[in-house]
Amino acid sequence: MPGFELIGKEEQKACDSVFENGGVLYRYGLDAKRNNIFKVDEFEKAVAKKVGAKYCHIVCNGTAALKIGLFALGVRAGDEVITQSFTFIATVEAILELGAKPVIAEVDDTLNMDPEDLKKKITDKTKVIIPVHMAGVAAKMDEIMAVAAEHNIPVFEDSAQGFGATYKGKNLGTIGKAGIYSFDIGKVITTGEGGALVTDDENLYLRAREYSDHGHEYNPSVPRGKDTRSSWGFNYKIMELQGAIGLAQLEKLDYVLDKQKEYKTRIKDGIKDIDTIEFRNLPNPDGDASDTLIFFVETREKAEKFAQEFTAKGLGTKNLPDALDWHFAGTWNHIYDAYPEYKGKDLEQVWEQSTSFLRRAVAIPIMVNMSDEQIDKVVDSIKEISGQLTKAGV
Ligand SMILES: Cc1ncc(COP(=O)(O)O)c(C=O)c1O
Repeated sequence: MPGFELIGKEEQKACDSVFENGGVLYRYGLDAKRNNIFKVDEFEKAVAKKVGAKYCHIVCNGTAALKIGLFALGVRAGDEVITQSFTFIATVEAILELGAKPVIAEVDDTLNMDPEDLKKKITDKTKVIIPVHMAGVAAKMDEIMAVAAEHNIPVFEDSAQGFGATYKGKNLGTIGKAGIYSFDIGKVITTGEGGALVTDDENLYLRAREYSDHGHEYNPSVPRGKDTRSSWGFNYKIMELQGAIGLAQLEKLDYVLDKQKEYKTRIKDGIKDIDTIEFRNLPNPDGDASDTLIFFVETREKAEKFAQEFTAKGLGTKNLPDALDWHFAGTWNHIYDAYPEYKGKDLEQVWEQSTSFLRRAVAIPIMVNMSDEQIDKVVDSIKEISGQLTKAGV
């Protein structure tokens, strides 16, 4: 889970360089004082290059990147935006922030958007479709793109957890009309807080950028204080230090992805003969960011017991099942009670298919700095707990 494990002298040096060049912490202006060095700008260019997008705009977090992207895609009050039942709550919050309605599609055994259920959720109010690449695993993008194209609805990928991961050779986040990444503390690379919007569409990029900075159009013919604007926005800017840290972290991305893949493969190989577990279906195994290994056990009770035993051995699970409440719409009555058709309902029944997968899922974090002993301990523990639970008849 990686970026934060590798924060070290490179990131420190990158921050020092900001102070050595005038100490301008703001991303814009004071050109001479900062020796014309703009770290967030450089980070944007580097991210765009790395993922193969024409434009990248970096903001203060992934949630803000979702919101500015939805705004730029024209989402307004009364619209519907379809996303999936398994995601971090931020995806739904960004939709709510614009006054739109989050419509939730089921996930299938990929634990990402079920394209068949997506078809059922489209109405004439659907403005955008947001598949989420949960835990760095691609959604079924061919099928989702085909459904979206049939209805002429843009696809906006929430790839907060999938920076560096790919689907059929393309970076997650660059397949639809636009995509986002998060650089928060739990992500593939981290700037503490940070997010990126990527797109090949210049207009979309410009609208999102304006919205993220009070409507500033960055008119080159006038100083910032006289900048032109045609609509209002908000403030989602990020600091120079985060740009500097991001550049240092980006240098480590390939190493992170290689190590995660190696360790995940070893753990998967070690437990593949356990017949009471079933691995998550990966639409594109080669492109997996590999920072999480998810498998299904037979029952909800077994998943919970599994996590308890795993934690008791000094190992942890990652979101499934321990933090499912923050990642599953089936628990979000505080949001859906506002809609008459959901009020007071058991949402686990509403998204029954998702419940049937998510409540039986166990997620194991893959760390970049895992030692051989730790990898063996994970494998041995999974084997041991599976055996014990089977024996106990759980
Ligand atoms: C799927 C998903 N979307 C959006 C976000 C929001 O990103 P941030 O924490 O940078 O606001 C996250 C963060 O965990 C996420 O996992």
